[in-house]
Amino acid sequence: MALVPYDDTAVGALQKLHISSSTYHFFNHTIQIKQNWKQLGVAAVVWDAAVVLCTYLEMGGIDLRGHSVIELGAGTGLLGIVATLLGAHVTITDREAALAFLESNVQANLPPDLQPKAVVKELTWGRDLMNFSPGDFDFILGADIIYLEETFVDLLWTLEHLCSEHTVILLSCRIRYERDQNFLKMLKGQFSVHEVHYDPSSDVHIFKAQRSAPKEDL
Ligand SMILES: C[S@@+](CC[C@H](N)C(=O)[O-])C[C@H]1O[C@@H](n2cnc3c(N)ncnc32)[C@H](O)[C@@H]1O
Repeated sequence: MALVPYDDTAVGALQKLHISSSTYHFFNHTIQIKQNWKQLGVAAVVWDAAVVLCTYLEMGGIDLRGHSVIELGAGTGLLGIVATLLGAHVTITDREAALAFLESNVQANLPPDLQPKAVVKELTWGRDLMNFSPGDFDFILGADIIYLEETFVDLLWTLEHLCSEHTVILLSCRIRYERDQNFLKMLKGQFSVHEVHYDPSSDVHIFKAQRSAPKEDL
């Protein structure tokens, strides 16, 4: 599947996509993310959903310190970088075509002592899942990955494969179309799902999903 440009019609949003780099500040770190919309489309720009989930982590929404985390559809890697800065061990994944760009952003933004804590790896939803052991991850993160209807079954299958009883899934998204609601319905069929945060300025929701009843201590 090609990395197709994303259909987002708001003029302001489109202008942001064409900026060649964007700067963020999380946990006393300045993070400079390279973008390349023209060459790599959706995977090479930072989406609001990633920024909102990073902010939620910074606010203490969930403590990832010392935990094992996998990020799906990482794009430029901002969320995975922030999770690593927070003290998690992070497997940052995307499709093969996005990996070189992702890796360069991750390397450029992590201090040498934290580089070993972040691993960039291919994970195309639904494919070669045996490369990832169920139960290896305490948290699964995904920002703006609910948008392609043809990937919904594979994405859900990937979440089911990776998730053990203790795994917490955090998905941030803008609900743009009815099909996005359909994915949430599919998710609710397999997991216990709760909205834990909504950012009205960007219209981004954060959903927490778990196999079993939510644990109060996470
Ligand atoms: C809208 S972008 C979000 C990128 C990043 N998470 C962010 O919020 O800035 C969607 C991401 O999902 C990835 N993606 C799309 N289909 C995928 C698939 N079948 N398997 C794995 N990743 C996929 C794209 O390559 C892209 O990086």
